[in-house]
Amino acid sequence: MGKMWGGVFNKNVEDSVLQYTSSINIDKLLAKFDIEYSIVHAMALEKAGLVSKQELNDIVRILKELSKNFEENNIKISEDIEDIHTFIENYLIEKLKNTAYKLHAGRSRNDQIMVSVRLYCKQDLELIIDKINKMIKAILKIADANKNIIIPAYTHLQHAQPVLFSHYLIAYINMFKRDIERLSEAVNRLDVLPAGSAACTGTSVNLDLDFIAKKLGFSKISDNSLDAVSDRDFIAEILSGLSILFMHFSRLAEDLILWYSQEFNIISIDESFCTGSSIMPHKKNPDALELIRGNSSKIYGNLFSILTLLKGLPLSYNRDLQLDKEFLFPSINTAVGTLDILIFLFDKVKINTESVDKLLKDEKLYITDVAEFLVYKGMPFREAHEVIGKVYKHCVENKMKFSDMSLSELKKFSGLFDDKVFSLFNPNKSVNSKVTLNSTNPDIVSRKISELLKEFK
Ligand code: ARG
Repeated sequence: MGKMWGGVFNKNVEDSVLQYTSSINIDKLLAKFDIEYSIVHAMALEKAGLVSKQELNDIVRILKELSKNFEENNIKISEDIEDIHTFIENYLIEKLKNTAYKLHAGRSRNDQIMVSVRLYCKQDLELIIDKINKMIKAILKIADANKNIIIPAYTHLQHAQPVLFSHYLIAYINMFKRDIERLSEAVNRLDVLPAGSAACTGTSVNLDLDFIAKKLGFSKISDNSLDAVSDRDFIAEILSGLSILFMHFSRLAEDLILWYSQEFNIISIDESFCTGSSIMPHKKNPDALELIRGNSSKIYGNLFSILTLLKGLPLSYNRDLQLDKEFLFPSINTAVGTLDILIFLFDKVKINTESVDKLLKDEKLYITDVAEFLVYKGMPFREAHEVIGKVYKHCVENKMKFSDMSLSELKKFSGLFDDKVFSLFNPNKSVNSKVTLNSTNPDIVSRKISELLKEFK
């Protein structure tokens, strides 16, 4: 197979070196974008007077044919080719001979690869953002259908206070909304056309960059050729956005794994989402959730790889940069696959109300409400905290429940107690008592759900 270079060489390059430097196995994914860009580049060459109308028509016809062949999976790429740009040019040369030789004027693979990668990122990040939106809708549906279900909230993985299940889910929706913002900002910043930079200093070929940008859908044009061929900030930014997304995924997966465990038993996950054990016949494990938790490590690793690849790298293009795709593409694929799994999962999650009701019988969950009750009676909070702490200690030492105490016993701890204190050990009363605008108060949460339903129609 032909190479894009060779004139200066006296010898053939060793096969092992060619193999080592080839990127075809990873960059063949860019075929569609490289063809799209090559068609527009040919048009720009025609505008610059370097390619005739007839030659342009021939180039476009063959590139479209190649694109169709890729779509229909009719293309076999041999392993000994250097990269996707070489493959596409070779295809053209085979069909058009001399005309095809004209296509590379005014560009280098250094700027060419950046055009293709940026086009790929724009398309695939839109897909990821779309899937995050779909996942939010699926979570919202559960929140809406179970608006008034109450579960224990945890701090330090210990029972804290009662909370609406929907309030809990909205916490995750908030995280995912921030993820969308972060990834959208990354798309906005990478939406810059690097063409015209050629190898690194620009080109004497008078390319109409506004025309190219418009045709390819870029909203800005790069203003520095050195920066354009060596900038990979956008990849670090995407991987950072995806790392934060996966950090959220891993926390969500961990919550769901805990809730699905026998000890918590807060949710059921449909069988179709679980896998079995080869030895223990009773097992229905949430392996997919564990893999989501595990996959976050791959994305973090890829973020560190790109940062390390770029550290101390001199301007402008260096071949090290070819490796960026090995970190970017698998991360994007993992994100897409993970989102599909989560969308599927949320359709299948059910809350085990009976066992949740049992958990809610734990009186510890209401102790803070009792302290606030004393505050309303006029006791300074720090003192109320101390008093309730003592009552609770008394209960533990005497193996009794708070609600088993008589009013006269309670009055020994504080004269401010009255009968109403016993009604506080109630999950509905607890969530209803919260009034701050970010609280788990059912009216506030219900309003929030309505707003979200409008936002994610
Ligand atoms: N395949 C390379 C990349 O992905 C582009 C080739 C640039 N090669 C070169 N010798 N300048 O970055």
